[in-house]
Amino acid sequence: MYADNRTALMPRLGEAALVCFAAPEQIRNNDVHHDYRQDSDFFYLTGFDEPDCVLVINPTRPAGEQVSLFLRERDPARVIWDGEMLGVDRAVEALGVDQAFCIDSLAETLPDLLVGATAVYHDLGKRPEDDAVVTRALLGTRRARRQGKETPGDLKALLPLLHEARLIKTPAEIERLRAVSQLAAEGHVRAMARMAPGAYEYQLQAEMEYHWARNGARRMAYPSIVGSGANACVLHYRPNSRQMLDGDLVLVDAGCELDYYASDITRTWPVNGKFTDAQRAVYEVVLAAQLAAIERCRPGYSFDSVHDRAVQVLVEGMVGLGLLTGDVGELIETEAFKRYYMHRTGHWIGMDVHDVGTYHSRGTSRSLEPGMALTVEPGIYIAPDDDEAPEHLRGIGIRIEDDVLVTTEGPEVLTAGVPKTVDALEALIGSQAE
Ligand code: GLY
Ligand code: MN
Ligand code: MN
Repeated sequence: MYADNRTALMPRLGEAALVCFAAPEQIRNNDVHHDYRQDSDFFYLTGFDEPDCVLVINPTRPAGEQVSLFLRERDPARVIWDGEMLGVDRAVEALGVDQAFCIDSLAETLPDLLVGATAVYHDLGKRPEDDAVVTRALLGTRRARRQGKETPGDLKALLPLLHEARLIKTPAEIERLRAVSQLAAEGHVRAMARMAPGAYEYQLQAEMEYHWARNGARRMAYPSIVGSGANACVLHYRPNSRQMLDGDLVLVDAGCELDYYASDITRTWPVNGKFTDAQRAVYEVVLAAQLAAIERCRPGYSFDSVHDRAVQVLVEGMVGLGLLTGDVGELIETEAFKRYYMHRTGHWIGMDVHDVGTYHSRGTSRSLEPGMALTVEPGIYIAPDDDEAPEHLRGIGIRIEDDVLVTTEGPEVLTAGVPKTVDALEALIGSQAE
């Protein structure tokens, strides 16, 4: 899969080389590190999850010397403490690169590997220390230039090239997205089924995360959000510390990461398993908006048109609920709806939960293409102290979010494994409570 990703990128490089750095380790406190996660770009091109590595691709070199990896030498003393390391000797066979070098020789060897290329693609500005390595290597190619060889005369931004590739998911990536989405959906279903009033938000979080961890997802795609009652109106609520009470809604925005691919699901449901009339009325508006927006996830529609469709249905619903008064077109034009819907309807999803790729091209919203994956996540949030809102609606926050793959046949809802109709939710919630 990763060799295929490299091969697919080659023609886009033309006669330019590429240099891509692994993510550095991060200190958590004193001598404890954060869990290591490889840089998504580096992983996309290598499938390798050790720090202190640099990938170099130079398509102008002879076959067998085009893909080079710098990595740590296997150190038996270190293996005793930190576990296995791949090591230079095994890298070619394990990762399918053409040649492997010790990372300690990077400064010395990199200039030679860049000779022949007309330019170097590098993620400029991300880490000054990496920029320094690349610029020093460019200086180091001067001797070759004096000898009449082609050397890179230009430093180019890697991200547009690589992220355009990552935006269109390959069949292998689509399989991974399907797998992570299904697992994430199962975790939400488990949490719903085991729900009981009186539990704390973090306990609901644990139900999902337990299922994901048990099934191989070792990380969340982002910190889980479990917001009950008015906490649902805090878009990126983090504490997850409140006791959930009979009569509350709970908004759960959580997704696991599996094999470096992310999921991102939101469901909002009544803690006691039964929507009140007010909760249901708002819920049905958000659901209608979400379904209508998902219908737009087809080739040819623009990314923005998904949002526009959601806004249209939400604003009609807000007028029906008595949240807004006036002409729907005007309420959209003046953005009056932002009082209750203040975020966008979605984002790309892939290796990163907010995945890479541009949303606009030359000032216009880009068209959806098969292989793009995006979230569709409209919501309505009525602050508890909003004295302009009807009293019975205050403190209600609802979001519904699914991950959708654009295909030639139409939208494929990757996270369809979690129910979202009122009837299906009411049947599921608390059905396996202890
Ligand atoms: N969980 C963050 C988001 O939905 O974008
Ligand atoms: Mn989300
Ligand atoms: Mn999202």
